[in-house]
Amino acid sequence: MAGSRGNLGKLGKAGIGAGLLSLGLILSACQHGPPDPTPAPISSPATAPGAPVHFTAQGDIGVSTGARKVLDVVAGLKPHLNLTLGDFTYKAGIEQKFCDMVTGSLGADFPYQLLTGNHESDGHDGDIEKFVQCLPNKLPGVQGVYGTQWQADAPEQNPVVRFIMVSPGIDFRDGQPLDYSKDSERWRWTADAIDEAKSQKIPWTVVGMHVPCLSIGNYGCPAGHEFTNMLIEKKVDLVLSGHDHVYQRTHQLGVGGQCPELVPASFSAGCLTDTDSTMAQGSGTVFATIGVGGVGLYNVNADDPEAGYFASSSGKNRNPALGTLHVTATAAELAARFVPAEGYTFSDSFTLQRR
Ligand SMILES: [Fe+2]
Repeated sequence: MAGSRGNLGKLGKAGIGAGLLSLGLILSACQHGPPDPTPAPISSPATAPGAPVHFTAQGDIGVSTGARKVLDVVAGLKPHLNLTLGDFTYKAGIEQKFCDMVTGSLGADFPYQLLTGNHESDGHDGDIEKFVQCLPNKLPGVQGVYGTQWQADAPEQNPVVRFIMVSPGIDFRDGQPLDYSKDSERWRWTADAIDEAKSQKIPWTVVGMHVPCLSIGNYGCPAGHEFTNMLIEKKVDLVLSGHDHVYQRTHQLGVGGQCPELVPASFSAGCLTDTDSTMAQGSGTVFATIGVGGVGLYNVNADDPEAGYFASSSGKNRNPALGTLHVTATAAELAARFVPAEGYTFSDSFTLQRR
């Protein structure tokens, strides 16, 4: 884990956010229909302290028609930033093609913020190092190693959301996973980022990681059950992942009392803290997998032992949809909805409210 902290200096606060100054222009240019000759700038996280933050998130993208359809949705939503949750090309040697596809849809200055998936973390199906060169960080104040383990607040001043992006459960160049075991350096980095957000009274904490823990798709808990329980204990508001090529969103889950800990591959009703779509902050964590950014879908399994945790799901065999999560965060509320790409109808929405 040498290198993570050592690289912090590469991402200094100054200068990184310059591209955001022109964000309004870029985003306005993403609107469909005839171009507006004088697009009105919208406020951006860099320039409007305390302003609402709009972001989109999805993973598992590829370079096909599906990816382009989802990028069209993102462009139409005009978010301030996109969290890209890993698995970009599924093929080596076409990193630039992917980056060109993204910038062609969203503009060269749009914060299309990268987190590696397992397909590019080891350099096998594309190389995360090349992706971060052609789609570099665009958020001001980012800390950590962009693409692998980084955090940033939006807006940078008087933030509404802290984003914490981490990479448990996937192999890197040496064929080994990074160490997110209990009390490891990366565990502490993550826990400290969450604790600091709470102590600074940043309204919302969002964690992203390529792999999920709970899933009714193909996978088990590659993110690790201890690490996942730590996120719940610390009351991270929303955990986003990809990897499973489905959309699946849990109820709000909490530990303590009736649920000493969340145990993967089983279900305990005591871990459900709120089961309708309007939830209060502070009782637990909502997990959403949005592995539907463009590639072929997997099935969802209604008989999965974890099915009782899920409020909404979409897969190849049921309610199939490519698309993106779209989140609007204000100091009072975090409102999220799944927005399907053209040709799909599935949707989902949920809201977290501050007490
Ligand atoms: Fe994938």
